[in-house]
Amino acid sequence: MADSPYPELKKTHTMAHVGRPYTDYKPPAAAPVWAVIEGYGRFHVLVSALQLNLFDTLDELGPSTPDDLAEQLDVSAPHLATLLDGVIALGFLERHRGRVQLNDTARRYLVSSSPASMADLVPVSPGPLANWDRLTDTVRAGAPAEPIENDPANFYVPLVEGTFTTINRCAQRADLQLRYSALDCPRVLDLGAGGAPWAIAVLEANDGASAVVNDLDGVIDVAQEKVATRGLLARCEFRAGDFHDIELEADHYDLVVLGHVCRSEGIDGALHLIVRAYDALRPGGRLLLGDYFCDEERSQADHALMMGVTMMASTRVGATFTFGQVNGWLDAAGFDDVRVIEPIGFQHVFVATKPRGGS
Ligand SMILES: C[S@@+](CC[C@H](N)C(=O)[O-])C[C@H]1O[C@@H](n2cnc3c(N)ncnc32)[C@H](O)[C@@H]1O
Repeated sequence: MADSPYPELKKTHTMAHVGRPYTDYKPPAAAPVWAVIEGYGRFHVLVSALQLNLFDTLDELGPSTPDDLAEQLDVSAPHLATLLDGVIALGFLERHRGRVQLNDTARRYLVSSSPASMADLVPVSPGPLANWDRLTDTVRAGAPAEPIENDPANFYVPLVEGTFTTINRCAQRADLQLRYSALDCPRVLDLGAGGAPWAIAVLEANDGASAVVNDLDGVIDVAQEKVATRGLLARCEFRAGDFHDIELEADHYDLVVLGHVCRSEGIDGALHLIVRAYDALRPGGRLLLGDYFCDEERSQADHALMMGVTMMASTRVGATFTFGQVNGWLDAAGFDDVRVIEPIGFQHVFVATKPRGGS
């Protein structure tokens, strides 16, 4: 269909016809489409910069010319110069008088030694890239050809290495609202713990705390290594296996953590985990359920909505749930005092208490 040469003058294009007064006098910008087209390249520019150690090298060298950097990184100077243009366009580097340098965002999130580093997370966060190429087939067929559940350790080991810094910061900050550091010898159960960022935060903040850490065979080694490095092995038991069937004590724990595990489980799986958590908590104990949730209309929380697509692309039943759905499940399971905290940006955690009279 041919576009009008002067869309702003189209007489038939009135509110009565389309109900969008904005488009009566000005067509919408194409910028969102360009943003998507560039999205693929943007991801790969950042991954390349990380793979070439660009941010760590600039952190060491300080402001540098592209030629000095190319020599230091042992790469083609003209190609690096172009990659640097891309990284500047992404908003992670600044250029002054021919020298490039890190900006505050890169220093905090992309230098590997930063406590908030996301450097290991960037390449693995979208899930297996081949599953994005097959997204249309997945939507047609109703399932990805190669879901991560076929080989969970292969996917989750690098993922939980990558998410550890972010979730551990979230867990540490959560103490300001949860005050787990002040509990008397709390027992923590961390289901699908990954590198155990939650259990470690509690063990480090409270000398009397002990933890049971669960994850699948092959993934639990990551938690073991991180707990050992911090000298916390004596207060930690590792219980490998499927969180739907491992043995759990009843009415026992002060805190049960379901950290970013529900979204890959579908509704039935998530409900089952919530009920398991309820049973394992002592009366008065609290469930911490962290994930990316969206509003009831499924229209406001872009990050959570896109996370749902990421789950669809690579898991059998993964999805993004709304705040209302989770609230309803916690209520139905018997929890009280349900609230949501956001200890750091983008990280929402439901906190729900098992009633003192509950069992
Ligand atoms: C997205 S990671 C979250 C890790 C950690 N809880 C956090 O908040 O950072 C999901 C974790 O759940 C684990 N997991 C997935 N399915 C599981 C199952 N059936 N039983 C136990 N753990 C499972 C994965 O191995 C992975 O470590």
